[in-house]
Amino acid sequence: MLNTFEKFLQDYNYNSQGSVNDAVIYATADGGKRVRPMLLLALLSDYGINIEKGLSAALAIELIHSYSLVHDDLPAMDNDDYRRGKLSTHKQFGEDIAILAGDALLTEAFAIIASDIANYPEEKIKLVQALAKYSGIGGMIYGQQLDLAGESKALLLDDVKEINVYKTSNLIMFALSAAAIIANADQDIEKLLVIAKDLGLAFQIQDDILDVTKTFEEIGKYASDEDNDKSTYVKLIGLEASKASVAELFENIYNVLNTLDLKSNNLKELIVNIENRQK
Ligand code: IPE
Ligand code: IPE
Ligand code: MG
Ligand code: MG
Ligand code: MG
Repeated sequence: MLNTFEKFLQDYNYNSQGSVNDAVIYATADGGKRVRPMLLLALLSDYGINIEKGLSAALAIELIHSYSLVHDDLPAMDNDDYRRGKLSTHKQFGEDIAILAGDALLTEAFAIIASDIANYPEEKIKLVQALAKYSGIGGMIYGQQLDLAGESKALLLDDVKEINVYKTSNLIMFALSAAAIIANADQDIEKLLVIAKDLGLAFQIQDDILDVTKTFEEIGKYASDEDNDKSTYVKLIGLEASKASVAELFENIYNVLNTLDLKSNNLKELIVNIENRQK
């Protein structure tokens, strides 16, 4: 499944050339875990649907995620020089080109879904609506806004939770609801959103844990949270309590997941891998 996705991503032609095109390829090429597209494709296959029908939505969410990271690393945001074991996009190409590359990835994500011939127009409209909702001004972007506004402030754990749900759970909400849209499984969307919310929160707490417990060689990036005076679970409640929160979230996730009527266990297996992730 991962290989099919990687090939689809690699073969995708942006019909452009020059520095922005190079930067877009650089920012998406390799090193990413592809968690969001894999969640989408795993659930789609659990519905018994050929994953070919989900490839464009899977690529779209990976491009949105990649754009969010290109912009997240900019000096005006987290100011990180490394990503996925190599220079961040603005360090490699300059800030101007990195901003445009982010813009290009965002725009292209919608074009990919709209141009897909594997899905019906009604499904594509629903996918585009969902992508805008979860990645846009009331979704991931809102989370990034809260994240920046929260720097150097004494936030409560509930504030950090809200930031994490918007900045990280929202893209996962797209991934899981997109599979349900393609599989015509609207009846599951409410439960999938509960799973996505907890999974995104757990994933972000894990990220904050890994940032302070792993080396650059292990995770391909340096921790900037302390430099930026960000509030994280680790900072507010410590490492052990953060790990306990992650474990509790995964327990909730499995409980809801077990109530879904699926034909196979690909999503569950992927979520177990995420629970045990070391990078
Ligand atoms: C990093 O996401 C940003 C967060 C939301 C924690 P990933 O850990 O999925 O990054 P890549 O795509 O694997 O590099
Ligand atoms: C990034 O969160 C979330 C988004 C880009 C939406 P972080 O700022 O914690 O991610 P890293 O640590 O830079 O990967
Ligand atoms: Mg950030
Ligand atoms: Mg960051
Ligand atoms: Mg981080």
